[in-house]
Amino acid sequence: MAQGVMLWYDLHALAAAVASLLLVSSVLVATSTAANCGRKCGDVRIPYPFGIGVDCAWPGFDVSCNHSFSPPRPYYLNIEIMDISVEAGEMRIYSPVVYNCYTSYNTTEYDTSSLQDDLRDTPFLFARSRNEFTAIGCGAIAFLWGRDDASYSTGCITTCASLEEAAHDGDHCTGLGCCQVPSIPPNLNILNISFGPGSLIGIPAWRESPCSYAFVAEQSWYNFSRQDFSRAGSKSFAESDGKRSVPTAVGV
Ligand SMILES: *[C@@H]1O[C@H](CO)[C@@H](O)[C@H](O)[C@H]1NC(C)=O
Ligand SMILES: *[C@@H]1O[C@H](CO)[C@@H](O)[C@H](O)[C@H]1NC(C)=O
Ligand SMILES: *[C@@H]1O[C@H](CO)[C@@H](O)[C@H](O)[C@H]1NC(C)=O
Ligand SMILES: *[C@@H]1O[C@H](CO)[C@@H](O)[C@H](O)[C@H]1NC(C)=O
Repeated sequence: MAQGVMLWYDLHALAAAVASLLLVSSVLVATSTAANCGRKCGDVRIPYPFGIGVDCAWPGFDVSCNHSFSPPRPYYLNIEIMDISVEAGEMRIYSPVVYNCYTSYNTTEYDTSSLQDDLRDTPFLFARSRNEFTAIGCGAIAFLWGRDDASYSTGCITTCASLEEAAHDGDHCTGLGCCQVPSIPPNLNILNISFGPGSLIGIPAWRESPCSYAFVAEQSWYNFSRQDFSRAGSKSFAESDGKRSVPTAVGV
C-alpha cells in the first residue's frame, strides 16, 4: 500500500518535471521566435498582433517589409502602411489620389481616372467616422464606391466659373473648387474612386485651374488651396512610390 502511494508520488513528480520542462522549452521557443521577429520596418513600428511575415503575426495581420527602399517600407498586401496604433485598433495607410487635367474647355487627359484600394478578405475596414471624401477642381464630378457588392456609392460635384470664383485658401469645401462628403459609413471594404465624364460640365477656367483631384483622407487632413488646381497638385499630397497619396485610416 505504502509502495503504491510512493509510486503514484514519483509518477506525479515526474509528470510535473516533464510539464515544467515542456513549459521551459516552449518559453524558449516563444522567446527565440520573438527574437527573430523584427518589430520595425524602416521607421515604422510593427506592434503585435501585426508582425513581419506570417510566423510573427496574428493570422491576417502579417506585413511585408520591402527593403528595396531606403528606409525600408512596410506593406499590408499591396498597400503601404504609414503607422500602426494598436491602442486605437487602427493603422494609417497611404491611399491613392485620383486626378485628371483639362487640356481644353471640354477635353481631359486621363492620367488616373479610377483607382481602387482593396481590403476584401482581410480583417480590416476603412475606419468608421475617421475619413472623408474630397474632390478638388473647377469642373469635377467625383464618385466613391465603397463596397465590392456595389451597395454603397457617394460623390460630389465642384464648379467654378473662374479662379476668382473658387473658394479662398483655407475655406471649407462647399462646392466652389472643392467639395466633400465629410463622413463615410462603416463597413467599407474597398475604396474605388473615379471621375464622371470630364467633358460633362466643361470649365472656362481650364488654363488657370486645369486639374481635378479626388481622395479619401483622414478627417480635417486636407486644407483647401487654389494652388491645388495646378498640375503639381497639393504639396501636402505625400509622394510615396512616386504616386500621389494621402493618409487614410483603417480599422479592425
Ligand atoms: C519592393 O518594391 C519594389 C519597387 O516598388 C518592387 O519592384 C518590388 O517588387 C517590391 N518587393 C517586394 C518583395 O514586394
Ligand atoms: C468641345 O467643344 C467643341 C466646341 O464647342 C466641340 O466642337 C467639341 O465636340 C467638344 N468636344 C467634346 C469632347 O465634347
Ligand atoms: C471601380 O469600380 C468600377 C465600377 O464598379 C469598375 O468599373 C472599375 O473597374 C473599378 N476600378 C478599379 C480600378 O478596380
Ligand atoms: C490643415 O490646417 C490645420 C489647422 O491649421 C493643420 O493642423 C493641418 O496640419 C493642416 N493640414 C495640412 C495637410 O497642411
